[in-house]
Amino acid sequence: MNMQPRHTADATTVEEGLAIAEAQDKIYNNEMATETAMQNTLLTPRFYTTDFDELDAVDVSPVREDWDALIAQMLADPNKGHFKKNEDWDEVDWDGMEPTLKKEFIDFLISSCTAEFSGCVLYKEMKRRGSNQDVTQLFQLMARDEARHAGFINDALREAGLRVNLGFLTQKKKYTYFRPKFIYYATYLSEKIGYARYITIFRHLEAHPEHRFHPIFKWFREWCNDEFSHGEAFALLMKTDPKLTRGHNVLWIKFFLTAVYATMYVRDHQRPAFHEALGVDPDWYAHEVFTKTSKLSEQIFPITLDIEHPRWQPTLERLQRANQDLARAKEAGGITGKLAQIGASARAAWCFVSLYTIPANKHRVPESTRMEPVY
Ligand SMILES: [Fe+2]
Ligand SMILES: [Fe+2]
Repeated sequence: MNMQPRHTADATTVEEGLAIAEAQDKIYNNEMATETAMQNTLLTPRFYTTDFDELDAVDVSPVREDWDALIAQMLADPNKGHFKKNEDWDEVDWDGMEPTLKKEFIDFLISSCTAEFSGCVLYKEMKRRGSNQDVTQLFQLMARDEARHAGFINDALREAGLRVNLGFLTQKKKYTYFRPKFIYYATYLSEKIGYARYITIFRHLEAHPEHRFHPIFKWFREWCNDEFSHGEAFALLMKTDPKLTRGHNVLWIKFFLTAVYATMYVRDHQRPAFHEALGVDPDWYAHEVFTKTSKLSEQIFPITLDIEHPRWQPTLERLQRANQDLARAKEAGGITGKLAQIGASARAAWCFVSLYTIPANKHRVPESTRMEPVY
């Protein structure tokens, strides 16, 4: 008898995974988590759409050998069945959790679930619209992984009485259009920085298990290996067209590097209690993650940001303060609030310009992009 999988972790296709998620949406629902996930600000995860025909026209023959090896690895599916609770899942004392930590941690889970699901929706759409066998196969495999990741975070949220309603988000959340090349830059970076973030936390907690206040962190190694492969796929897609990483496109690459790093810095600094519970200094963590991500991105980008530059760290701190003031001004409302908002936004924009204009480190890109997760 052919048994249908019951958990997103066991789903072998994204369609299967989403059908399971949808069935669960009907049983468990919670407006609070979905509302948080619906927010669209500069700092919250967005949903993307693109020119799918242009993506479908990509010819991967220039990177055929590396491509086939990567697809074979993803088809072998070493993480099938991994993303669900098992005997390693310790009991979580949600009621006893310090309230600020609980709030920040839930916010972290919701925003991670939304980000995972954002990838899932984009990849699935590409798979559905395309006819290019190579491209659709890759996107099917990546969407499969992201559906599992999002499903697993929802398992964790459910214990706190919350759930992000994935079906509702698909229909109702606003989609931002990006040309395929911007999707490449942004998604490549978010996959690689995702890898760097998860592996840094995983290694830190391996050395300091007393800080592991929630069992989900035990799953981070396999998790980040999935993200690593997704990043590899985007590196190969960019490699098929050398123009994408040359000439004026290097300015775009620098823009995305700066935006992704700065967003991470500001977002993480909004969760001080979460980082304290993990025993992680957010400034150390940011620097560590940027260092790893830069090292990885040398596989395809001809520049990296100079995060050791004397202007880098102080400007990030000023950006963070401007962002805090902006949030406070929004809350205050009224005409004074409006004026304060304009002031804080201008300061934030100026910080971004200051970060962007730090001269980048240049280097030669290797012939073959393929890398293995080594951290
Ligand atoms: Fe993921
Ligand atoms: Fe991913």
